[in-house]
Amino acid sequence: MIKVIITGSNGLLGQSLLALLLKEKNKYQVFGFSRGKNRSGRDDFNYVSIDLTQKENLKKTIRDINPDFIINTAAMTLVDDCEIDKETCDLLNVDVVQWLAEVSEEMNIHLIHLSTDFIFDGEQGYYKETDQPNPLSYYGLSKVKSENLLLNSKIDYTILRTILVYGKVFSMSRSNIVLWVKSMLAQGKQITIVNDQFRMPTYVDDLALACKISMDKKATGIYHISSKELLSVFEIAQQVADVFELDKSLIKPISSTTLNQTAKRPPKTGFDLSKTNKVLNFYPKSFKEDLQRFKETLR
Ligand SMILES: NC(=O)c1ccc[n+]([C@@H]2O[C@H](COP(=O)([O-])OP(=O)(O)OC[C@H]3O[C@@H](n4cnc5c(N)ncnc54)[C@H](OP(=O)(O)O)[C@@H]3O)[C@@H](O)[C@H]2O)c1
Repeated sequence: MIKVIITGSNGLLGQSLLALLLKEKNKYQVFGFSRGKNRSGRDDFNYVSIDLTQKENLKKTIRDINPDFIINTAAMTLVDDCEIDKETCDLLNVDVVQWLAEVSEEMNIHLIHLSTDFIFDGEQGYYKETDQPNPLSYYGLSKVKSENLLLNSKIDYTILRTILVYGKVFSMSRSNIVLWVKSMLAQGKQITIVNDQFRMPTYVDDLALACKISMDKKATGIYHISSKELLSVFEIAQQVADVFELDKSLIKPISSTTLNQTAKRPPKTGFDLSKTNKVLNFYPKSFKEDLQRFKETLR
């Protein structure tokens, strides 16, 4: 049996990963770490209610389990919150990763860590794994710090960078672009969406699959995980309307200069996926194809 700890098992990726790994209960023994109660809607895994920021308790709990892999999906993910509360952002997005790396070295655990396109400044687009990070936000900077500490560690690590994740799981602590656009249009509400920021959105079930592939292949290093076409956020919203057969004319384009967001966003990200194709043998689809698949799961 392969023992896997998923941190953030109550989160979007965490719940999707639980669902994927628990399809193979004879292969994976799964431990989910999150704060408070188990909100995944399932009880066929080992849930551990834990505050990851309690260093010694975290390390002891991991030592007692002695896992083969830790998949660290927990993070402070709201970009503006990170800008406002840098201390908490550093604690969860950097210090916790440091402690996970320390216990991984001690126990010979392979650590899979999630990062983001926000480590880049968004001037260029289609980023390769080897491109130079230059974050515009504190969230992005915290993820660069977490990556660097893994790069400089002696452990087996995998860094999966991803973009604008969407999907639906049993318990949602927050919405995402697809669900929000779908819900607003279904209610006949007009929405304004930026047309000068470009992204490759990621279906959460694909991101979970990329985590599983990384484990199965014991792939180390950095990989970019997203869908394969670069779209403006406005185009993303329009495609949601197309696929869910909603009224596109309710979506109005705006410039991001009219938004008063606390943290700066990179204008144009998107990934070069050739390393992911070649090494992980993982070939992401277009956003529209992913949306169709997602729609099927909602039926
Ligand atoms: N979502 C995106 O668009 C996106 C884009 C790029 C990269 N990423 C990265 O992908 C990863 C997964 O993202 P996600 O969207 O699945 O995140 P998410 O839904 O916000 O899930 C994160 C989980 O971590 C848990 N957590 C936070 N602080 C904790 C603590 N101190 N102790 C225990 N658990 C704690 C949260 O618990 P609570 O539910 O109790 O708060 C939450 O369940 C993150 O590393 C994120 O930075 C996400």
